[in-house]
Amino acid sequence: MSKVSYIFLLCLCFLALGLCNGGELRKNFYRTSCPQAEQIVRDITRKNVATNAALPAKLLRMHFHDCFVRGCDGSVLIDSTANNTAEKDAIPNRSLAGFDVIDEIKTQLEKTCPGKVSCADIVALSARDSVSVQFNKTMWEVLTGRRDGKISRASEALADIPSPFSNFTILRQSFANKSLTVKDLVVLSGAHTIGVGHCNFFNNRLYNFTGKGDADPSLNATYAATLRSECRNLSDNTTTVEMDPGSSLTFDNHYFPTLKLQQGLFQSDAALLTNNVANGIVNEMLGSAKFFTEFGQSMKRMGAIGVLTGNAGEIRKKCSVVN
Ligand code: HEM
Ligand SMILES: *[C@@H]1O[C@H](CO)[C@@H](O)[C@H](O)[C@H]1NC(C)=O
Ligand SMILES: *[C@@H]1O[C@H](CO)[C@@H](O)[C@H](O)[C@H]1NC(C)=O
Ligand SMILES: *[C@@H]1O[C@H](CO)[C@@H](O)[C@H](O)[C@H]1NC(C)=O
Ligand SMILES: *[C@@H]1O[C@H](CO)[C@@H](O)[C@H](O)[C@H]1NC(C)=O
Ligand SMILES: *[C@@H]1O[C@H](CO)[C@@H](O)[C@H](O)[C@H]1NC(C)=O
Ligand SMILES: *[C@@H]1O[C@H](CO)[C@@H](O)[C@H](O)[C@H]1NC(C)=O
Ligand SMILES: *[C@@H]1O[C@H](CO)[C@@H](O)[C@H](O)[C@H]1NC(C)=O
Ligand SMILES: *[C@@H]1O[C@H](CO)[C@@H](O)[C@H](O)[C@H]1NC(C)=O
Ligand SMILES: *[C@@H]1O[C@H](CO)[C@@H](O)[C@H](O)[C@H]1NC(C)=O
Repeated sequence: MSKVSYIFLLCLCFLALGLCNGGELRKNFYRTSCPQAEQIVRDITRKNVATNAALPAKLLRMHFHDCFVRGCDGSVLIDSTANNTAEKDAIPNRSLAGFDVIDEIKTQLEKTCPGKVSCADIVALSARDSVSVQFNKTMWEVLTGRRDGKISRASEALADIPSPFSNFTILRQSFANKSLTVKDLVVLSGAHTIGVGHCNFFNNRLYNFTGKGDADPSLNATYAATLRSECRNLSDNTTTVEMDPGSSLTFDNHYFPTLKLQQGLFQSDAALLTNNVANGIVNEMLGSAKFFTEFGQSMKRMGAIGVLTGNAGEIRKKCSVVN
């Protein structure tokens, strides 16, 4: 076989892989089956954000947790049963919220077009729409046509969702496991420009980093002192702090300049400065327009992880239980 035709075949293989990996998602999948679907998601999401400014952070993180465990298949929404401890009840689920909003949207969609719109698509769309409210425009494209999975296991959430104590090697590996690049890792970490973190996810950096009652030297000392005044002791697992102090309700690119001042909250944030390639991408994201564009593209890739399409899975009737 000639070199050229070999390369051609190789490209075909990659194309085919691309198809299995979310290529079957489409723009406006519900155009004929439920034309009002995207509008209904947007309206109910906007209504809820209007009374709960913390919601975009909840829905964005929910989408991330959904996609990293079994693909974006709505498995994060399933309740545990007598037989099964679901993702929701895994340790990294702490403070996952917004389930009531997903249910409100689903209830309306089931009235308008029963059995058509997947819970997985609702999660992807409402994450986008909630972040978009402050801009009054659609911030990134969400392809649709995901179907819902039937399995949700707490153990898988523990294994697949990166821990805030991870170093760069582990983070890169955990994203690579989902076919995401170092660029995706850095760009998507910028989601920490909104929302809050519980003290117990970074307390070790304030009080006992190496077991000698010391602080993490890679954490800004001034900032560490501020954090110690909020998180009073090592066992505090109830207090939360803003991840992007002062603008934790605003989606902007502050995460990156803050990171450069060594004020990333988690070890997993600080870790992005420990690798040359990642650090270079952090520098690029100091431009806010660049960040918004890249964030949309990485969200699209994240939203395609392991999706079920065609006849796979099901369209759940109620998002918290399999049919
Ligand atoms: C790179 C690996 C990541 C790690 C280790 C990580 C870890 C965490 C942790 C520990 C929290 C705090 C949860 C709490 O205390 O309640 C958090 C919050 C959050 N994460 Fe991440 N995360 C990562 C990536 C992402 C990605 C890719 C997204 C979305 C695209 C995301 C979106 C969020 C949001 C919006 C919050 C705030 C949630 C709230 O306010 O309730 N994170 N993350
Ligand atoms: C638990 O598992 C058994 C056998 O696998 C099944 O018959 C039963 O319906 C399950 N119960 C629930 C609540 O899912
Ligand atoms: C998270 O899991 C704990 C048990 O580990 C459970 O009590 C809690 O209700 C879960 N949170 C959500 C939002 O489901
Ligand atoms: C938001 O955008 C819509 C249409 O794009 C426009 O009609 C509306 O006035 C805008 N609202 C605000 C508050 O700017
Ligand atoms: C990263 O963390 C893993 C697991 O804790 C550890 O095995 C590895 O040695 C660490 N790598 C570096 C470069 O610190
Ligand atoms: C990546 O996936 C492999 C194979 O499933 C697994 O053994 C490994 O623990 C995963 N690594 C991370 C960091 O998630
Ligand atoms: C700090 O860590 C060391 C070693 O793990 C432990 O012996 C010590 O009790 C810790 N200090 C506090 C205040 O928890
Ligand atoms: C640690 O801080 C929390 C929250 O401020 C408080 O409820 C708890 O009593 C403190 N525990 C200790 C051992 O000081
Ligand atoms: C917080 O810590 C207390 C005491 O260490 C523990 O009993 C409780 O289960 C913890 N809560 C959570 C949500 O982890
Ligand atoms: C630590 O933060 C302060 C602002 O709070 C900043 O002036 C300083 O440059 C930062 N230090 C480092 C090493 O980035």
